[in-house]
Amino acid sequence: MRKVSIEAPAKINLGLRITGVRSDGFHSLESIFSTVTLTDEITVSLNPRVSRVSLTCTGIPSPTDENNLVWKAAQAFMNEADVKDRDGISITLHKNIPSPGGLGGGSSDAAAVLLALRDLTGIRINLTPLGERLGSDVPFFLLRAGSAFVTGRGEVLKEMVLPHFHCVLVHSGEKIPTPAAFKLWDEHRGDLTEACPISNYTALKFGAWHEGKPFPVRLDNHFLTLLHGRYPGVTRTAEELSRLTGDWGLSGSGPAFYALFRSENEAKEAEEHLAGKFPWVFRCQSR
Ligand code: C5P
Repeated sequence: MRKVSIEAPAKINLGLRITGVRSDGFHSLESIFSTVTLTDEITVSLNPRVSRVSLTCTGIPSPTDENNLVWKAAQAFMNEADVKDRDGISITLHKNIPSPGGLGGGSSDAAAVLLALRDLTGIRINLTPLGERLGSDVPFFLLRAGSAFVTGRGEVLKEMVLPHFHCVLVHSGEKIPTPAAFKLWDEHRGDLTEACPISNYTALKFGAWHEGKPFPVRLDNHFLTLLHGRYPGVTRTAEELSRLTGDWGLSGSGPAFYALFRSENEAKEAEEHLAGKFPWVFRCQSR
């Protein structure tokens, strides 16, 4: 039985601005997505002994039925590629990326499954529309890029190069559903002072961060302004990180945060400092 093993990386958002509401009800945004070396591990095989989709999960507990985006992705691929009379699909998922977190874990898993199934079946359907229907962040993960400047609902992507960084991720354990975070924007957008556009991204390629200059991206996130003071874990994490470095930010709609470091030693020190204070702390680097 042929199988494909694939890593599904987490992403962080280096700055995020919500720019409006679209006619389809989704919000348009502007952000830089950057993948890091925190990954879920996925193995996919075509299996004549199972019917439809069979999912086994280890690591951080996750659903093993249609409530898991991995399951939905496999089913969507089968329907789209019209392979219903063929073998079932066996998937094992080892979950390392906390969810919800703003780290794109579920979307990255879904993209990985779509790519693995295209490889296994040899059926070369266009995965992007399929990915968009599964989740706004899935198109980014289908790109398999290190970093991209992202607009639209998340589907307009321009691949880009950033300086290599070490980072420490922190999760307070708080749960913030993505729709609830967007609803805060709908209700309180008037409270936001207009953050700087992130669109001058071409300058980033030449950023001299490793020579001590400021990180070449504004790390402001509209969600941080909205969640700060409303979610105690967000407030506490922001306060703790700002004592450590200026180069930190909220990832997506949270509640995971990241702090960026130029060297592994600085990142290790920060990891040690934060480890006893938060339930989940993870040191990694850009991919
Ligand atoms: O696409 P995804 O499944 O990540 O979206 C979850 C929810 O977050 C959507 O149902 C929508 O309420 C909100 N959302 C949005 N605009 C986006 C992404 C998500 O309004 N660009």
